[in-house]
Amino acid sequence: MKALVVYESMFGNTAAIARAIAEGLAGGYEVTLADAAARPSAAGVDLLVVGGPTHALSMSRPATRADAVKQGASEHSGGGLREYLDASPGLAGLAAATFDTRIDTRYPTGSAARKARRKLRRLGCRVVAPAESFRVSGTAGPLLDGETARARKWAAGLRVA
Ligand SMILES: Cc1cc2nc3c(=O)[nH]c(=O)nc-3n(C[C@H](O)[C@H](O)[C@H](O)COP(=O)(O)O)c2cc1C
Repeated sequence: MKALVVYESMFGNTAAIARAIAEGLAGGYEVTLADAAARPSAAGVDLLVVGGPTHALSMSRPATRADAVKQGASEHSGGGLREYLDASPGLAGLAAATFDTRIDTRYPTGSAARKARRKLRRLGCRVVAPAESFRVSGTAGPLLDGETARARKWAAGLRVA
């Protein structure tokens, strides 16, 4: 069984979660981990897991990524999760799950994972888990204590059927 984990990350927090998810999946799958900007192919994959940072209540856009760079993130080219999903044909029927990072606050934050999940459904994917969020303490991070361990566990529990 093969799993593909595709992530977008501006400050490195979602990348750290994606690595933990890849580790969690490694018990049951041959795992490939890839940046969305690399536009990895999902051909031959049994489970697709995608994630990115929540920006402006949703998946990032060019303008929000530019804003992140102004706030100290490294330059990003090649697009993010939104562009990856928009450019990915042939996902119909594929088992999929989504995650994001977002700020730990009592105010409404939105969720990139929920938006990505809706998009995957529209593309015909079989979504196998609720959208999952992992929390950062601020725009640049860090992740809250325990979030990478939680990500590993979440991923280990993902089933394609
Ligand atoms: C332009 C911009 C908009 C953001 N909007 C939101 C938001 O609507 N809700 C939220 O919880 N976090 C928001 N954040 C914080 C991001 O979720 C946070 O930077 C991200 O989780 C860090 O992940 P990364 O290190 O992988 O980029 C925003 C950050 C930026 C730069």
